[in-house]
Amino acid sequence: MFVRNRWVIGNWKMNGTLASNAALLESLSAPKPSVEAQSARLAVCVPAPYLNQTQRALGGTGVLWGAQDLSEHRSGAFTGEVSAAMLKEFGASIVLVGHSERRQYNAESSEDVAAKAAAAFDAGLTPIICVGETLLDREAGVAESTVAAQLAPCAALIQRAGAALVFAYEPVWAIGTGRTATPEQAQAMHAFVRSELASIAPNARDASILYGGSVKAANARELFGQSDIDGGLIGGASLVAADFIAICGSL
Ligand code: PGA
Repeated sequence: MFVRNRWVIGNWKMNGTLASNAALLESLSAPKPSVEAQSARLAVCVPAPYLNQTQRALGGTGVLWGAQDLSEHRSGAFTGEVSAAMLKEFGASIVLVGHSERRQYNAESSEDVAAKAAAAFDAGLTPIICVGETLLDREAGVAESTVAAQLAPCAALIQRAGAALVFAYEPVWAIGTGRTATPEQAQAMHAFVRSELASIAPNARDASILYGGSVKAANARELFGQSDIDGGLIGGASLVAADFIAICGSL
């Protein structure tokens, strides 16, 4: 039987200092037998200037790392951008694409997100493709169609990469708000995302789909226990070592 990969990924967002990162990374590098026993994948997505520090701290520990964004281009006159190949040089395995904060503050379209995801995949990185509806969408009854429209430009990539991709369903109204989707709400959307993926490419049904939005140590176990939830993308709680480790232990 195919077993989907289970993940807990920390998204540090634009937080950290060399000193505070050192303490956080040190506690992540200690062995976590309960998690290793389940062959789960743990990772952190750090601001680009901290990739070197993260590589030094986590190299050889089994904890993976990556970035929060990348350029869709390979190289060239794109001032301020960071390429997939540069991330690879710092040992990154994953990269977030299409986080709602980038869609909102950087006007990233779903087409941009698909191009970035393809650039990451082609360079050997696993893109973590983020989707999710706003509160307005949910109240208007268009949560599913919004998420389907966000996935649609990724169809060509989904057809060639299938289960090698990772998705994160993050309802915008639950990010950083303390308001989590109920396990039932999250499960319903995850089941929807999985059926959309399967309709694009049958083997994409086995892609990992993570939940994100105010995941805490107190609610992680119940969320991760839902049949279509394969772990979590953790913002605020990933900055507190004890909280993040407790969430990892809930996989
Ligand atoms: P949060 O953020 O856990 O702080 O809600 C999640 C995210 O933005 O990935």
